[in-house]
Formats: sequence, C-alpha cells, structure tokens
Amino acid sequence: MPNHIFIKKKIKNFNKKITVSSDKSISIRSVLLASQAVGTSEISNLLESEDVMNALNIIKKLGINFTKKGKIYKIQGFGINGFNYKKNITIDAGNSGTLARLILGLLIKSKYSIKLKGDKSLSKRDFYRVIRPLKLLGANIESNNNLLPIKILGTDFLRPIEYDEKIGSAQVKSCIILSALNTPGLTIINSKKSRNHTELMLKFLKYPIKVKSTKTNDKIFIKGQEEFNAFKYKIPGDISSAAFFIVLTLLSENSQITIKNINVNKTRIGIITILNKMGAGIVLKNKKLYNGEEIADIFVRSKKNLKGVNCPSTLNSSAIDEFLIIFLAAAKANGTSKFRNLGEMNKKESKRLDLGIKFLKLIGIRVERIENDLKIYGNPEINLSGNFEVKNFLKDHRIFFLSCIAALTLGGNWKINDKNSANTSFPDFLKILKKIGARVN
Ligand code: S3P
Repeated sequence: MPNHIFIKKKIKNFNKKITVSSDKSISIRSVLLASQAVGTSEISNLLESEDVMNALNIIKKLGINFTKKGKIYKIQGFGINGFNYKKNITIDAGNSGTLARLILGLLIKSKYSIKLKGDKSLSKRDFYRVIRPLKLLGANIESNNNLLPIKILGTDFLRPIEYDEKIGSAQVKSCIILSALNTPGLTIINSKKSRNHTELMLKFLKYPIKVKSTKTNDKIFIKGQEEFNAFKYKIPGDISSAAFFIVLTLLSENSQITIKNINVNKTRIGIITILNKMGAGIVLKNKKLYNGEEIADIFVRSKKNLKGVNCPSTLNSSAIDEFLIIFLAAAKANGTSKFRNLGEMNKKESKRLDLGIKFLKLIGIRVERIENDLKIYGNPEINLSGNFEVKNFLKDHRIFFLSCIAALTLGGNWKINDKNSANTSFPDFLKILKKIGARVN
C-alpha cells in the first residue's frame, strides 16, 4: 500500500454527526494509572493508536498484564511501583512525548536500570525538562545530552521536592505527580496552567491530591505512598482530533457538523475560544460531568467571514496542539491574526512553528515572524489551483491532518505523504473524512 494520498477536489457541502478518536492524553494516563492501582481496572473506548499501544506494551514489559474482551481493556495492577521486570530491559515510547515523560515518573523507584528509547522524532526532543526534577527527587539518570535514549535507575531514598514548573507543560507536571506517588511526604508543584487530566483522574480515584488555583497557576500538593483501587473509565473523544473537523466545517460551504462526546475540559478548549473570537459561533451542547471531566457535543456551521484574531498568549497552553489548524483558519480570515510566544510548538513531534509557517507560505499566505511571535495576513478569497506536495515533516500526524483539511477547503491538486502518521493519534481520520464526502485517493 502506498504511503501517500491525493486530494484533487474540495469537499462538497455536508450535514453530519460524527464521533472522532478517543482522547490520547486521557487514554495514556488511564493505562499508566491502571498499572499502579490495586486490582483489575476496566477501560472502555481506549484510543487504539500507536502512542497508546506503546503505553500498553511498556506496562506489559514492566510486568503488568492486560487483556482485551470486546471493547474493554482489563489491566491488572499490583499497587504503586508494583512492577516486576528483568534486568537490562529497554522500553520504547515510539513517537509519544507524553508516554516517555510520564513513564519516567513511574520509574523513580526502579530497582534495576531501565533504558527508554523512542523514534526519530522523539529522539530529537528535549528531556532536560523532566530529567531536572527527577534528579532533584533522587533518581539516577544517564542521557545522551538530555535526549533519548535515557537510562533511569531509581532510588529507595526519595525526597519530596517543591518544584516550579514554568513552561506550562502538562507532561512535566504529570511526570512529577506520578513520581510523587512513590515519594514519602508531600510533593508540591507550582505549575503554570496546563491540561489537568492527571490531577482530575487522581481525584476521581480518591488519591490525596489538592490543587489551589489562581488565574495563571496551579499549586499542587500530593501526598506520597497511598494506594488506590482499580477503576472503570470510559474515555471521551479528543478535542485535538475534533479540531480538524471543526475547521473543515468552518471553511467549507453550507455545511454543518456535530462532533459527539468530546472532552471539553477548560484546559483544552483554547481552539474554541480562539475560533469564536474570530466569529466562528461554535456551540457546546449536552454538557455533562464525567469523573471530574467535562464532556459535550460540539456543533459547528460553515462561516464565510471569519475575522483575524489577536490571540492572547494565556490561551497558548490550552490550544498547544491545535495551532497548526488555527493558522489555517487565520489564513482564510479577513484581516491580520497575531499569535505570541509560540516557541513550545517547535518542541513537539516536529518543529511545528517552523513547518506551520512554511505551510502557510506554500499556500501563498503572507506571514511575518519575530522570534516566536507571528502575524498571519488572512486572505478570505484564497482559492488554490496547481500542484502541491507535502513531504519531509518528520511524519508529524498533525501536519498530515492539516494538509488534508487545506486541500479539501482551499482547492488545488495535492499529494500528501506519510499517510501512516495518522496512526499516532487518529487511525480512522481518513475513513471519517470519506464518510462525510471527501474524495481521497
Ligand atoms: C500532553 C501535553 C502537551 C501536548 C501533548 C499531550 C499531555 O504537551 O502537546 O500532545 O497529554 O500531557 P506539553 O505538556 O509538553 O505542552
């Protein structure tokens, strides 16, 4: 099977209800926390993508068994640090920064040294951000200049720390929270706001964790070495996957879509706030609470005259994985859009800020960049013709999805490479696109 696709026609008008893939952040957390619970947890609607399968493979290598019956994964935990593994093992996080950083937190007490590796993209990403706090807690870590592969050897002499997490990274925050499960006493994290699924899941498990919030920061207190029981969890849909269908609908003509059962946690819906500032009129329907998380259906209609946005950087963390597709909306908006302080985008699966700008230039949009601030000069009349090819994007799934949505809404003859990158987060992406009428070869 070839690993590229062709799109040569814009999508025709549609009116559909869809579900998208399950939330990746919550799927990975549910697997890792089930591996630390006492008893057999049952997880339904788990995202069956490569990142999550790598999480299951890693816990298996660490001695935690799981089975799948029907749609339910059963994971048998033996409590905190209840791992059981051989000497000299290597675990592989594949493409997933979240998995790599979170699993290191759970290995803080490992009795043998464990090697962690990842794919080409993950091997270029910074691990100093987690190595620093883990060393302060007492772990022994060897790395390749703060890159993977990393060897971690735990310690029995863990000490609780008070840590300032200034990046606004949920991966760093969650790595410390998970290591605190093994650490005696009270670990305190002063963290710039970021997605809070780990905290909410631990609260749902009745684990002693407290959070004091201000507008910009969360101060988190975790008491170590308390056990928690196995649990049942049904994973909701992922707003990061829904994002592509939201913008597809906005930029298409006379269309509407309902995306069902999406996690709309406030720390994740920056894209909706930003697009609504542009006049998108996106509505959240049927809101309900589920184990501390908020879930809703997202209703979107085509919008002819989106306007440029002056995006406050306080929204960056809650839209961090969605900026590529937000840039596409800005490209078709009336007026200039401004974004600030987007350096973290270059620390993702690919250098997304650099590649996002390259992409906008490819489709003829004027962009000005000063350091990590961006001005996008929108063109509401944009209508592409001629040939476009997207390649060499480090197989970043979100650049693949962005390219498909651009091709389906702006026109032109597109060849888009590395189709298999979709398997990282959203294996059914093309199937759902076709279901709503896209012609993809
Ligand atoms: C994630 C956190 C984000 C995000 C990533 C998933 C998580 O990274 O980009 O795709 O599940 O914790 P940072 O927390 O490093 O910004």
